[in-house]
Amino acid sequence: MKILGIETSCDETAVAVVEDGVNILSNQISSQVAIHARYGGIVPEVASRQHIIAIIPTMEQAMAEAKVGWDDLDGIAVTMGPGLAGSLLVGVNVAKAIAVARRLPIIGINHLEGHIYAIWLMGRRIVFPLVCLIVSGGHSDLVLMRGHGDYVVLGRTRDDAAGEAFDKAARILGLGYPGGPAIERAASNGVAVIQLPRAWLKGTNDFSFSGVKTALLRLVAGGKVALAAERGDELPSGVDAAASFQEAVIDVLVAKAVAVARECRVKQLLLVGGVAANKSLRKRLVDNSPIPVLVPDPVLCTDNAAMIAACGYHHFQDGRVADAALDVVPSLKLA
Ligand code: KG4
Ligand code: ZN
Repeated sequence: MKILGIETSCDETAVAVVEDGVNILSNQISSQVAIHARYGGIVPEVASRQHIIAIIPTMEQAMAEAKVGWDDLDGIAVTMGPGLAGSLLVGVNVAKAIAVARRLPIIGINHLEGHIYAIWLMGRRIVFPLVCLIVSGGHSDLVLMRGHGDYVVLGRTRDDAAGEAFDKAARILGLGYPGGPAIERAASNGVAVIQLPRAWLKGTNDFSFSGVKTALLRLVAGGKVALAAERGDELPSGVDAAASFQEAVIDVLVAKAVAVARECRVKQLLLVGGVAANKSLRKRLVDNSPIPVLVPDPVLCTDNAAMIAACGYHHFQDGRVADAALDVVPSLKLA
């Protein structure tokens, strides 16, 4: 069964073809990073306009790479939320048009569920129940997955998501956009010498990253950190601040994910979402978890359409198909 996946929830226009939910036949991503970098962050209207421009060429590339024509496809899976309304509308409308023209079944996919299904593209055996740590630009969720489509959200962020915190910290340190990779690069040249707070929120599985971000902002504003350009001998530098920040965020993510996986007595712990591309986070979780940790390849952690198609396959298998009334839901929840 060949599924065409379409993902336009944020700033990547992505189209992929996946066979039987596991074999990637193509995975095309047209990135808008260079466009939004000029503004220091994503501008929603610019993003939707860019999706309009990029979606058809990206789809043509994906179909050519997969060596498939319209007649070879069995269904279309498209991200319906959560995300930016204008961006989601582009993908959903294109998917609907194809579905009508080619009489193909269509399914609306929750972007977060898509992130989880990136694991199915890694060729590993997946054992339910499992716990997923989903860390992206908009979410830091701890989810118990009891089977396909069966989720219990056990913890979530109370303020900034992990990726959002990385992006804001990078801006504070003048490291540019996108912030996650920028912090990771800087941190690899620094030492975590600055004590930053960790919000443990004892007794809950929730996260909070606004405190560590504010503490960093205060240090920089108070002249307690010498940013890279003005590196001094007596002050910790910007790269040390990046390393300290990254460590503070990872400490909490790893401790809470391991604790929840233990409590739930699961056999596998999944790390997914854009922040899962972070090498230190991957290593720390693998090193500290007594339960086997599965992480997608970095290109399948950040936004892509292969994960949407993989997820769509399971929806089709279970008969969970949408109809012509499919709409976008910008604040769609997982459970
Ligand atoms: O999943 P994703 O691509 O898009 C959303 O669904 O939000 O995640 C994007 C987030 C951004 O906040 C970005 O800074 C972060 O993931 N990110 C990283 C890394 N690569 C991307 N954070 C830390 N380290 C990275 N290497
Ligand atoms: Zn995402």
